Amino acid sequence: MFLTIDKLNVKGKRVLVRADLNVPSKDGKVTDTTRIDRSAATLTELAAAGAKVIVLTHFGRPKGREEKYSQKLLVEPLAKAVGKPVAWADDCIGPEAEKVIAAMKDGDIALLENVRFHPEEEKNDFGFAKSLSALGDLYVNDAFSTAHRAHASTEGLAHMLPAAAGRLMQAELEALGKALEHPEKPVAAIVGGAKVSTKLELLGNLVSRVDYLIIGGGMANTFLFAEGKQVGKSLCEKEMADTAREILEKAKAAHCHIVLPVDAVVAGEFAENAPSKVVSVDEVPADMMILDAGPASAEAVIDRLGGCKTLVWNGPFGAFEIKPFDAATNAVAQWAAERTKQGKLLTVAGGGDTVSALAKAGVEDKFSYVSTAGGAFLEWLEGKELPGVAALNIMPNKAPSSGGGCGCGSGGGGGGCH
Ligand code: 3PG
Ligand code: MG
Repeated sequence: MFLTIDKLNVKGKRVLVRADLNVPSKDGKVTDTTRIDRSAATLTELAAAGAKVIVLTHFGRPKGREEKYSQKLLVEPLAKAVGKPVAWADDCIGPEAEKVIAAMKDGDIALLENVRFHPEEEKNDFGFAKSLSALGDLYVNDAFSTAHRAHASTEGLAHMLPAAAGRLMQAELEALGKALEHPEKPVAAIVGGAKVSTKLELLGNLVSRVDYLIIGGGMANTFLFAEGKQVGKSLCEKEMADTAREILEKAKAAHCHIVLPVDAVVAGEFAENAPSKVVSVDEVPADMMILDAGPASAEAVIDRLGGCKTLVWNGPFGAFEIKPFDAATNAVAQWAAERTKQGKLLTVAGGGDTVSALAKAGVEDKFSYVSTAGGAFLEWLEGKELPGVAALNIMPNKAPSSGGGCGCGSGGGGGGCH
C-alpha cells in the first residue's frame, strides 16, 4: 500500500506535485481540460492545508527545449480549475524555479516549465531528480496516466523525498483495483480496437482474470478469420491467426468465455454514411468490410453483461468516429450506463479512444469510473507493474531495520510526517 496525502503534514511545506497536464491543444490553446480539471482536487486540497504547491508536468514529447511545447498555455486553464492565480516559472530546475518558489506564500500554487525540456527527465537521471528534489520538502505523485514511465519526476523523485499518492492517483488505483484486482464477480472485459498485435499481452492477461472477454473492433475480425470465417476486405491481421487461436485455447483452459460478434455491419468503403447492411459473420461479402458489430451481437453482449457485476472496457466495437458505425458501441455503452445508475454494474473504462467513444455515446460521466489514462491504463490491463505507482511504496532513507514510525524517513528535520 502507498501513503495518501492524508498522511502528510503539509502546512508551510513546499510540496512538489507531479501531475499529468499533458492535454490536447490546437493553435496554442488547450482543447480539452479534462486532465487539468481532474488534477485540481489535489492541488486545492494541499493549498487549503497551507502547502506551497509546486506543479510538475510534461507536455508533449519535446526533444530538449522547444517553445511549441512550453507549458505557459496551461497557466490560465489551471488557474481557472483551482480557482486562484497560478505563478509561472520558466524552468523546472535551477535559479528560475528557485526564484519563483522563494516568493511563494503558504497556499500558493506555481506551475513549472516542462520537465521534458531536460532530456535527463526521461532517462530518470539521478542528478536531475536531485535538482528537482531540492525544490521541495515533500513529493506527491498524482499522475497515474504517466505512471507507466520510469522518469525522474514520476519515479526517481519518489526515492528522494517523503512521497504520497495524490487524490487522482488514489481514485484511479481504487477504481482499477475494484475492476480487476478484487472485483465483484462475474467480471467482464470489453476489448476493442484495430489490432490484436497491439493488445496481445492485454488479452493474455485478461483471459486469466475475467469471466467474459468480449472482443470488438478490428481485432474481432482476426479472431473470426482464425475461426475459419471469410472477412472480405475487413481490417484483419491474417498473420496473427495462430496467436488468436492460442488466446482462444488459453481462455478455454482458464474458463473464460470469449464473446465474438455473430453479425456485422458491412460496407464497401470506410466512409461516413457509406451504404451498409447487416450480415451474419458467416456471410461477409468478399468485396465488403466489417465496420461495426451488428445488432444481434450488441444484444448478445448485453445479455452476457446482464449476469455480470463488473465491467472493464477498453476499445470500441466499431468505427465509432463515423456514422452509422457507432451503433453497437453506443447501444452497449448506454445500456452499461443505465445498469451503473441502477447500481447493478460497476463500470470502469479507459484509453484514449474509449473515452471519446463513451463521450460520443453521451455516457462519459455515467460510468462508475473513467480513467484519464491511455498508455498507463493499457499497461495496467496487461498486468504490468507501473513504475510510478511502484515507487510510491518505497520510503526514502528508510533503513531496512529501522522499524517503527510511519517510515517516511523525514527524520526530525523538515519532513512532513505527522
Ligand atoms: C499520455 O498522454 O499518455 C501521458 O501523458 C504520457 O505521455 P507519453 O506517452 O508522451 O509518455
Ligand atoms: Mg501516451
